[in-house]
Amino acid sequence: MSVLTEDMKRMIRQQRMGFIATVSPQGLPNLSPKGTMSVWDDDHLVFADLGSPDTIANLEQNPACEINVLDYFARKGYLFKGDGIVLVEGDLFNEIHDAVTAKRSGRSYPSKRYVIVKVKDASLMISPGYASGQTELEMREQWTTHWNGVQTENS
Ligand SMILES: Cc1cc2nc3c(=O)[nH]c(=O)nc-3n(C[C@H](O)[C@H](O)[C@H](O)COP(=O)(O)O)c2cc1C
Repeated sequence: MSVLTEDMKRMIRQQRMGFIATVSPQGLPNLSPKGTMSVWDDDHLVFADLGSPDTIANLEQNPACEINVLDYFARKGYLFKGDGIVLVEGDLFNEIHDAVTAKRSGRSYPSKRYVIVKVKDASLMISPGYASGQTELEMREQWTTHWNGVQTENS
């Protein structure tokens, strides 16, 4: 049975962004955003290394990682625990590179490395804000208003 549900895949495809946590050889946490986070298949996520020296170094020593993908409007998301493998060459590297390049209308991707993460455990996270009985629609409306205000403030 696949680990990733259709809803998980939908959210990752829509958000196009995940935060990955890795562990340094000294046991320290390292967290950074990956805007190329995408679904590879029913059990794997993938992202391009465009400038992630610490994440790559950590995964090469210890593949354990956790990825957090969040819908900021619905205030819901998913956590994915798994093992990340750094790919620099080979059939899978070429397959991923071709798929990413195809998605970019044939424009080649600048990445020399990809990280493929085998998801071993996936779980839903929901804001405690839902405890008051708010529906997802109400939550979306509330946070759309908030982010519209932020946009206005910043423009
Ligand atoms: C919104 C956003 C998206 C990013 N997406 C990626 C990405 O897909 N791949 C990547 O290698 N770096 C990406 N970066 C850059 C790295 O996360 C950033 O350089 C970070 O400091 C690398 O740290 P690390 O070595 O701990 O991963 C992104 C940064 C931001 C702010």
